[in-house]
Amino acid sequence: MSTATGPAVSTDRVTADRAERDAPPLVSVAGLAVALPTGPRTEVQAVRSVGLEVHRGERVGIVGESGSGKSVTGRAIAGLLPGTPRVRVEGSIRIDGREMVGAPPRAWDAVRSRTVGMIFQDPLTFLNPVMKVGAQVREAIAPARRTGRRAASDPAVLATLEQAGLEDAARIAQRFPHELSGGMRQRVLIAIAIAKQPDLIIADEPTTALDATIQRRVLATLDETVARLGTSLVLISHDLAVVASMTDRIYVMYAGRVVESGATRDVLERPRHVYTRALLRSVRSLTDAGEELWSITPDVRRGIDEAVAGGEGHRAT
Ligand SMILES: Nc1ncnc2c1ncn2[C@@H]1O[C@H](COP(=O)(O)OP(=O)(O)OP(=O)(O)O)[C@@H](O)[C@H]1O
Ligand SMILES: [Mg+2]
Repeated sequence: MSTATGPAVSTDRVTADRAERDAPPLVSVAGLAVALPTGPRTEVQAVRSVGLEVHRGERVGIVGESGSGKSVTGRAIAGLLPGTPRVRVEGSIRIDGREMVGAPPRAWDAVRSRTVGMIFQDPLTFLNPVMKVGAQVREAIAPARRTGRRAASDPAVLATLEQAGLEDAARIAQRFPHELSGGMRQRVLIAIAIAKQPDLIIADEPTTALDATIQRRVLATLDETVARLGTSLVLISHDLAVVASMTDRIYVMYAGRVVESGATRDVLERPRHVYTRALLRSVRSLTDAGEELWSITPDVRRGIDEAVAGGEGHRAT
C-alpha cells in the first residue's frame, strides 16, 4: 500500500521530468571545438570535442579549474566568441533545433534577443558607463522603445529591476553603473538578462567578484528569478558548493574537454573520473585553510592526463 501523499507527488515529478527530458533539448552541443588566436601565428585549442545538453527548465553546472574551457564553451553557446575569422569553431551547437555553427551574425542576434541571455563576472565591462541603469534595462527590453517617458518611470523597466531583486527600482534606474555597489550592479545584469524573458540564462561566475554575503544574496536572487520564470540555467563556477546547491546536472571540464557528466549529486557524491575525484579532494582539503582551490599536485595531474588520454569517465545521463 502506498502512502497518501509522498509517492504520488514524486511520481508526478518523475513523469514531468521524463516528459521534459524526452522533449528535444533547448541546447544541444556536440563535438564542439574552439581554437582562439594567441598571436600572429599561434592559437590555443581552448575547447576540444565538448558535448553538452540543456533541457527546458533545467539547471546545468559547468565546473573545472581555471583555463579548462568553461567560459569559451559558455560564450560559444551565446554566440559571443571574439568575432574574428581566426576564431575557429567546429562541431555542432543546436539551439531550439537550429544549427548555429556557421550561422550568420543576424541569426545569433535573434538567438540572443529571444533565447539566450548571458551574465558575466564583471558587470562594469558589460554595462555602459555613461548611460543610466534604467535606460540600459529599457534598451534590453526593447531596443527601439520610445514611450515618451523616462526609463526611470517606465513600469516595464521598474518591474524588471524589481524581478532582479532591486527593491528601490525607481531610484536605482536613475543611477549610473559606477554609483551602484557590486551586488547591485550584478543584479542589474540579471535584470538585463531576464528583460527579454529568454529561455536560457548562461551565468559565467556571476558572483565571483563579490564578497561572500553579497554572493549568497545575488545567487539566491538568480535562483528565485529563474525558478519563477521557468528559465533554463547554465551556471559556470569554480565554486562546487554553489553548483551543488543550484544545478540538476553537472559537466566537469578539464583541458578543454568534458571529462565527467551526470546528475549533480551523483557526480559529487560518487565521482568516477580521476580528475573529479582530485578536484573534490583538493576542494575539501583546502577550503578550511582558505587557500587557492583546485590546486592539484603534479603527480595527480600526470595521472589525470593519462586517464583523460584513455577516455575514462562518462556515465549515461
Ligand atoms: N579571447 C581569448 N583569446 C585567446 N585565448 C583565450 C581567450 N579566451 C580564453 N582563451 C584561452 O582558452 C582557454 C580556455 O579559457 P576559458 O576562459 O574558457 O577558461 P575557464 O575555464 O573559463 O577559466 P577561468 O576559471 O579562469 O575563468 C585558456 O587556455 C585561455 O587562455
Ligand atoms: Mg572563465
